[in-house]
Amino acid sequence: MNMTDNTILITGGASGIGLALAERFLQRGNEVIICGRREDKLQEAKEKFPQLHIRVCDVAKECDRKSLVVWALHEFPKLNILVNNAGIQQRVNLLEATADWNYYHQEISANQEAPIHLSMLLIPHLMRKKEAVIVNVTSGLAFVPPAWVPIYGATKAAMHSFTVSLRLQVEKSNINVVEVLPPAVNTDLGGVGLHTFGEPLDEFADAVFEGFENGDLEIGYRSSEKVIRASRDEIDEIVMRNWERLQIPKI
Ligand SMILES: NC(=O)c1ccc[n+]([C@@H]2O[C@H](COP(=O)([O-])OP(=O)(O)OC[C@H]3O[C@@H](n4cnc5c(N)ncnc54)[C@H](OP(=O)(O)O)[C@@H]3O)[C@@H](O)[C@H]2O)c1
Repeated sequence: MNMTDNTILITGGASGIGLALAERFLQRGNEVIICGRREDKLQEAKEKFPQLHIRVCDVAKECDRKSLVVWALHEFPKLNILVNNAGIQQRVNLLEATADWNYYHQEISANQEAPIHLSMLLIPHLMRKKEAVIVNVTSGLAFVPPAWVPIYGATKAAMHSFTVSLRLQVEKSNINVVEVLPPAVNTDLGGVGLHTFGEPLDEFADAVFEGFENGDLEIGYRSSEKVIRASRDEIDEIVMRNWERLQIPKI
């Protein structure tokens, strides 16, 4: 991937992995736009990195996605990289799933519908650029079904599948498709204080940039790098080990 002079839209770029990527893209001389639902978080990011462009947007909503794309293409016609990073993670006990469907559906719409739809909305524009990239942030859990977050795991497995299919369809075009598969990384994913057992954020983000610079198409790190190539037997073993460690009380 050409690492400089790009115009990049990062969904969910006000915190965690998205912000760490935004910071590194800025350092390399790129124009960076971030979006998210919380205006205060976006403002906080802009105070830290004044060159950032910010936009309030709930990517789980179809109308917000459409207006994000219209606004971004009007304001930033040079846009040539989309980073589908926004995501949420919800612990769901399938034996006691009494919440309204909207609660469960928001995980599917943010993690799965949004990156698919945003990619489809932007492909016609990206096709006209000299060089364009779609980066999908999925998860090592795309390969290792995480029973404590069953809907999350399903969305990430689906996004791995979509990413491979997208790459094949745009193979002969100017669009490259890159998948970033984080292992557990210390961010606020799932709620503050729930992801404290993972890899340090800055080390992970530096490794992702090494992958971008090397032109890697699938970028894992430590444990996720291993599961990408694990055998089915190895995966079954990790699935059980994770479930024993992390299962939801009461099941
Ligand atoms: N941390 C990990 O261990 C890990 C592992 C594997 C994969 N990942 C993936 O990495 C990506 C980034 O997560 P993270 O770890 O950096 O967590 P994070 O710090 O919670 O960041 C997620 C970002 O997404 C935004 N977001 C969530 N829902 C959104 C929506 N509907 N519309 C717009 N923005 C939305 C959030 O901002 P608002 O709340 O303000 O909208 C937040 O800035 C996710 O796709 C996650 O699944 C993370």
